Amino acid sequence: MAKSNNHNESNTLNPFSPQHPAQPNQFAGRHKEVDYFRSTALNSAKMPTPAPLNYAVLGTWGLGKTSLVYEYRHIALEELRKSTHCVTLHCALSPQSCRNWESFTTSLLAAAKSKEVNATQTIKSRVGKEISRWEPRVSVAGVGVQRRRDEGSTDLLTNLASLWHKHLEPSGTDIAFILLDDLHYFPIKAEESAYLTLRSTFQELVNQGCNYSLIVTAHSGLFTEIAEVAEPLIRFFKISELQPFTLAEAKEAIEKRLKTSGSQLSIDDAVVERAYEKTAGHPYLLMFTLHELVEMLRPSTHMREAGFEENWPQVDALLGETLFRQKFLSASEKERDLLLKIAKSKEVGVSPKNFKAPNVLFTRLEQKELLIHEDRGRYVLFHPLFREYLANQ
Ligand SMILES: Nc1ncnc2c1ncn2[C@@H]1O[C@H](COP(=O)(O)OP(=O)(O)OP(=O)(O)O)[C@@H](O)[C@H]1O
Ligand SMILES: [Mg+2]
Repeated sequence: MAKSNNHNESNTLNPFSPQHPAQPNQFAGRHKEVDYFRSTALNSAKMPTPAPLNYAVLGTWGLGKTSLVYEYRHIALEELRKSTHCVTLHCALSPQSCRNWESFTTSLLAAAKSKEVNATQTIKSRVGKEISRWEPRVSVAGVGVQRRRDEGSTDLLTNLASLWHKHLEPSGTDIAFILLDDLHYFPIKAEESAYLTLRSTFQELVNQGCNYSLIVTAHSGLFTEIAEVAEPLIRFFKISELQPFTLAEAKEAIEKRLKTSGSQLSIDDAVVERAYEKTAGHPYLLMFTLHELVEMLRPSTHMREAGFEENWPQVDALLGETLFRQKFLSASEKERDLLLKIAKSKEVGVSPKNFKAPNVLFTRLEQKELLIHEDRGRYVLFHPLFREYLANQ
């Protein structure tokens, strides 16, 4: 009896979880980015004189930056395992870890001593042992990092160089990928631009024979902002600007969720198409919509178009209350006025001169990811559903 209950429960699991990046077995689409990474990563691993490519994944919130970086890590560790030996180090940045260069150094070195390091199976235990013997030296106290103010160098360069030469290379590592998620937390106009220091550090590491490749994510506006103060950093990366899903990608993402969770839910193509239309293929909004629909339609396990139409107004209202309202409140009063005017204007794409508003208001709204800067000074609200939400205020 208990067994059959369990079986029934697992049959109706809700596999859609907008808050969490996709794991590799749930990952869909992005073929251009993934194919490019697969071939260039292998090339970078095999070059006798290190010259690794660095990658920047850009996109506004919820477009799938972290999911893509998880996929890159999976490719490095699993798909390429027969051809090369990789190490990956994942570091999720935060405003705190990016306060200044020292705090960044401390967090990155602490991540390098933690479970955030992984390696191709065949070298994994050796790398693990080597890292436990590695003693990074920094001048500020940090978690898992030894404090030796009086000895050795205090900078990221020296520590990462010693990690490579004394530990990673001797363990058979061909390349180490350093994944920095949410790089935009670095203040742009901090003391000396941290962005330039980042480039000079990693350029010098490669110059010293260390095969480190940087993979960063950031919101789309960052590189435009950086261009003014740290233009060379932009040339240091191969940039991928993420777009919303195509319909095929949306279908694949939904199918994979259903399949990997073993859920018995069935979702008609017409529902996927309607959800895709409403969300304009935005990955987070799509996952949110599917998650809520599954809950609203319980105990039914078959999602039909009629069920979608009936419940969509409720999903839409939830998006407004839980997401769009918060986004709107993150703007200042003046910015909110402008957002409302933009939403109520006839044109979808607008420019500052249409509103007699200072450019800086537009720039700030872009930094807050509420407006997207299209070409030639034209801005649009970040999503059509947000526009509808504002127009109804
Ligand atoms: N390629 C993908 N395949 C399947 N699901 C995806 C993919 N990309 C994104 N998603 C889903 O979309 C949602 C947002 O993805 P993710 O967290 O990776 O975006 P993000 O750009 O890193 O967001 P944030 O700006 O909040 O950091 C998650 O629910 C994730 O599972
Ligand atoms: Mg993310």
